Amino acid sequence: MKISIAGTGYVGLVSGACFADLGNNVLCLDVDESKIARLQAGDIPIYEPGLEAMVKRNVAAGRLRFTIDPQASVAHGTVQFIAVGTPPGEDGAADLSYVLGAARDIGRYMTEYRVVVDKSTVPVGTAEKVRGVIAEELARRGVQIDFSVVSNPEFLKEGAAIEDFMRPDRIIVGADDSRAVEIMRSIYAAIQRNHERMIVMDIRSAELAKYAANAMLATRISFMNELANLAEGLGADIEQVRLGIGSDARIGYHFLYAGCGYGGSCFPKDLTALSRMAAEQRTSLHVLNAVREVNAAQKLRLIEKVTQRFGEDLRGRRFALWGLAFKPNTDDMREAPSVAVIDGLVERGATICAYDPVAAHEARKRYADNGRVSLAESPLAALDDADALVIVTEWKEFRSPDFDEIRKRLKQPVVFDGRNLYEPALIHIFGIEYHGIGRGHGSGIQPRLKSAQP
Ligand SMILES: NC(=O)c1ccc[n+]([C@@H]2O[C@H](COP(=O)([O-])OP(=O)(O)OC[C@H]3O[C@@H](n4cnc5c(N)ncnc54)[C@H](O)[C@@H]3O)[C@@H](O)[C@H]2O)c1
Repeated sequence: MKISIAGTGYVGLVSGACFADLGNNVLCLDVDESKIARLQAGDIPIYEPGLEAMVKRNVAAGRLRFTIDPQASVAHGTVQFIAVGTPPGEDGAADLSYVLGAARDIGRYMTEYRVVVDKSTVPVGTAEKVRGVIAEELARRGVQIDFSVVSNPEFLKEGAAIEDFMRPDRIIVGADDSRAVEIMRSIYAAIQRNHERMIVMDIRSAELAKYAANAMLATRISFMNELANLAEGLGADIEQVRLGIGSDARIGYHFLYAGCGYGGSCFPKDLTALSRMAAEQRTSLHVLNAVREVNAAQKLRLIEKVTQRFGEDLRGRRFALWGLAFKPNTDDMREAPSVAVIDGLVERGATICAYDPVAAHEARKRYADNGRVSLAESPLAALDDADALVIVTEWKEFRSPDFDEIRKRLKQPVVFDGRNLYEPALIHIFGIEYHGIGRGHGSGIQPRLKSAQP
């Protein structure tokens, strides 16, 4: 099958590489000339496990190509995916200008039937707007060409994107014509040989399902974070509570880890966009608003712990920080808790020496003009002369560190663990002062509970 993908970012490039790996002939389009030039030169602009080898393999086989020419892209694929960004606009609603720009190109250049597939996360009603823009362009050209518009939201996770794409829990297809559904079924057939994973529904429900999924996951995180803060006051350990409730099959273990908040390019913007959708319907999503509020506070939780321990004035203090990416196995720092933590500490006069296995290049761009933030080549090197270690991202390589070395290198053996990587009892044996999130007596300083009941 010939497939075109507009938008060669985390979703577009992974989808393009995976479809090519399944034998399809894929052309990836982007408006970013430097990104396409890098890809054409064999350089992969993002970090995603397994992606580089997959891209190279398929480029070599002639099944994966890159272009900045929208006309060539529209001419290529019977299926035209739109996987461009949908960042928040000024009012928090998703900015649809990129999606509609890509749709307009399709209307401008198509000469025969096309299935236009919204893979970007888009507000309910966007497929109708995409259809409208394409119809407008066709009318302007004075031609009548058949096309279908389908919603096929993407559920892959950065850091495990290839695995998620190749073995999805489900493939949601929102469509209102059977020809498009059959084409979607055929392009996804290769990854559902084991059992049918495609769920076909109406377009609006498909669009909403994507937001609902992210909202549910974020809700679980904020719920646990709020409970973690309470657990600190009560002397209970949120990790034990997690095990206690996760064992209930109705609840399950996923997304129940307390920590220093969620970030990334999806949850924050998608929750804001969903709240905007609700506001447009003159209704309010009370639970979601609380989820966002709890998360904003939770991103500052480590700063609170640091200042309770070292005082509000952090001038002359140096902190080692492990983990910059918003989660492990990605170099994505969009809305990362590390940014809030670094900003908060630097604002109070501290200097930071940070380490991340793959996001250093992102951090270098972000902090190029900030003399207070430096980057270390290894986790241990970040510790030298630091007053304490602050852990923000749960990279695997941080899970079993050399605690003796941590104690020796730090000026004071203090660890603030924003991801509860360590057992408080174990780390105490090494003579390290430990501050986790919601770890009862292993949480260090008691939290300032927002509204303590009498
Ligand atoms: N990143 C994720 O983990 C993830 C997961 C599921 C869904 N999504 C959704 O998928 C969409 C894309 O996300 P992303 O993280 O891949 O974004 P991204 O920012 O990494 O990539 C988007 C790309 O689209 C390009 N672009 C913009 N306008 C274009 C146009 N008219 N034609 C061609 N290319 C154009 C940009 O230059 C950019 O390279 C968003 O709606 C996002 O919410 C993302």
